[in-house]
Amino acid sequence: MVQKLRVVTTLILVSVTYVGAVAHSGATGIVKERMDYFKASSINLKKIRAHISNENYASIVPLANSIASWNAKMPEYFPAGSNKNPSEASPKIWSDFKGFTAAAQLNWEATISLAKAAKNGDRNAVINAFKATAASCKSCHKTYRLK
Ligand code: HEC
Repeated sequence: MVQKLRVVTTLILVSVTYVGAVAHSGATGIVKERMDYFKASSINLKKIRAHISNENYASIVPLANSIASWNAKMPEYFPAGSNKNPSEASPKIWSDFKGFTAAAQLNWEATISLAKAAKNGDRNAVINAFKATAASCKSCHKTYRLK
């Protein structure tokens, strides 16, 4: 009985470790952490789009704030030299860290506007801020992310 329990526990541990190891094709440490934040932002953005369709503006506020709080700390998650495989971070981030920080700031401003517009239930402002948010995700990727 005890032995059987031990086997089960080991299996659970192994499967947890395995899932951790294969996430993001082997990314670890700070690279994996930032990838997780970006993934979460991407999921939040999709949820926001659905809430816009349903005109459920109140639900947008925490999602937009969550993206904004990631933007505010994003530059700290890019220490010099942290662009080793499988990272898609461009070396441009470190040759122009000011520009990279400004791109994060732009995305932050767009998501803060989105949260405000959603709080006011202003449909047009929500749509405009959503577009600005998506555009500022894209424009940073164009310059600072390798494809
Ligand atoms: C200031 C620049 C910048 C902004 C703004 C930005 N990103 Fe990124 N994003 C990056 C960089 C750089 C990477 C690559 C990170 C790496 O691989 O080390 C990345 C990676 C990603 C990834 C891939 C994560 C993975 O698992 O490999 C997703 C998804 C993503 N971003 C979504 C978004 C979304 C959605 C937004 C807007 C809400 C956004 N990003 C805003 C720079 C940015």
